Amino acid sequence: MTSIEITVIDREGVEHSGVDWEEDESLMESLVRNSFPILATCGGNASCSTCHSFLDQVSFETAGEIDEDEADVLDSLTEEEREPTSRLTCQVPWDEDLEGAVVRIGPF
Ligand code: FES
Repeated sequence: MTSIEITVIDREGVEHSGVDWEEDESLMESLVRNSFPILATCGGNASCSTCHSFLDQVSFETAGEIDEDEADVLDSLTEEEREPTSRLTCQVPWDEDLEGAVVRIGPF
């Protein structure tokens, strides 16, 4: 199984490097498997926002388009919650080019 390594910053601001993200997972699934506190209550269907996190700018651009369903959920976040690089991590598919991405877990 091919995997890449990313860095995750948790809600306490602690940086965890070397977090593995396997090819068959969404970013949310990797975070959950690695025991980060992501509820993912809708199971990855872009309808709950509990997987909301922030990507570093380069990874945000690499991660590709935000579809309509995800955009609707992001639009429902408050101004304080949302940032320019906000994503629903269940909608971010694995991509080799995301190696080294820095993911900061969103507030909840
Ligand atoms: S898990 Fe619900 S929006 Fe991502």
